[in-house]
Amino acid sequence: MKDSYGRTIDYLRISITDRCNLRCVYCMPAEGIPCIRHEEILTYEEIQTICEKMATLGLKHIKITGGEPLVRKECWNLIRKLKSIPSIQTVTLTTNGILLAELAEKLVQAGVDGVNISLDTLDAAEYSRITRGGDVKKVLEGLKTILSYPQVTVKVNCVLGGDGWEQNAITIAELAKKYCVHVRFIECMPTDWKQQTKLQDRVREVLESVYGPASDCEKPLGFGPSRYYQFEGFQGKIGFISAISHKFCENCNRLRLTADGKLRLCLQSKESMELKSLLRQGRDSELMDAIRTAIYRKPKEHHFEDSNIETVGMSQIGG
Ligand code: GTP
Ligand code: 5AD
Ligand code: SF4
Repeated sequence: MKDSYGRTIDYLRISITDRCNLRCVYCMPAEGIPCIRHEEILTYEEIQTICEKMATLGLKHIKITGGEPLVRKECWNLIRKLKSIPSIQTVTLTTNGILLAELAEKLVQAGVDGVNISLDTLDAAEYSRITRGGDVKKVLEGLKTILSYPQVTVKVNCVLGGDGWEQNAITIAELAKKYCVHVRFIECMPTDWKQQTKLQDRVREVLESVYGPASDCEKPLGFGPSRYYQFEGFQGKIGFISAISHKFCENCNRLRLTADGKLRLCLQSKESMELKSLLRQGRDSELMDAIRTAIYRKPKEHHFEDSNIETVGMSQIGG
């Protein structure tokens, strides 16, 4: 599948629920957001059908997101179904890690290829503040449990912010020294709950002052927008996802399926194609046309850098 700018679109991020067991300050308001009605949410069978159709157009990689994907009942059954589609090469998951320790074994048995864990700080009080009540111990238990399965690629996602971010970056990066885990620092994207940062170059400087010079990794790890560096003596790599200061749209390979069955063309744009009604009415050829149109209409780039853009609710899109 090529879009109108010649980019190959072979990666789909699927938000399987808009619900979450945390309320991160950069993602949701304290009171949460109105939830999508149960009957509006795609069933696992419906998600599988959409993926099978997209696989015929070249889909190869699937990322399961939320909200928090592990709060949806038996989500490992969906992973198993998606892994059984012959041309799908990887099915990975991005989670906040709270339920990971108890579910890791089921996810691995279902064939999950990679797990990304959101973890912004190791400090219990600060973690609780950022997530509005989360327990960092549970996330660390989840991390340790999933690391016991060497066939799974494990990454940590860290959104840095606030005073003392330098020491925090050093502490979180240390995870990649101690364990076989890739740590990525993510530039905060403007959402309805604004907190703008442009940190990549400064974080790299801070880490190099402690851990020595890093070498640039040419080869990507996985299929996302992260740019990776290797520090000497580290088991994992350090990555940066800097959508604003180091824009990566020219290499964008993805579409997003929302929990209520809309195919969104870009993280920042509200433009989408409605797939659920076509699917539920059995209008197969129109469904295929809608998918092709979505690919064709994918915008050239995001406009997060404009101060007056419409903002997005991350939890409803899955990041
Ligand atoms: P892998 O490295 O293959 O696991 O994929 P990934 O890094 O895309 O996955 P993950 O779900 O861990 O996303 C990490 C961060 O990248 C999140 O903050 C996402 O919001 C952000 N991100 C993912 N895709 C895009 C994109 O297309 N555009 C922008 N601006 N940000 C993205
Ligand atoms: N900017 C950047 N990343 C974000 N995430 C959630 N909200 C934002 C934001 N405003 C990240 C989470 C998670 C991933 C799916 O998206 O930290 O790791
Ligand atoms: Fe939940 Fe993820 Fe949003 Fe945090 S960033 S509130 S864990 S959906």
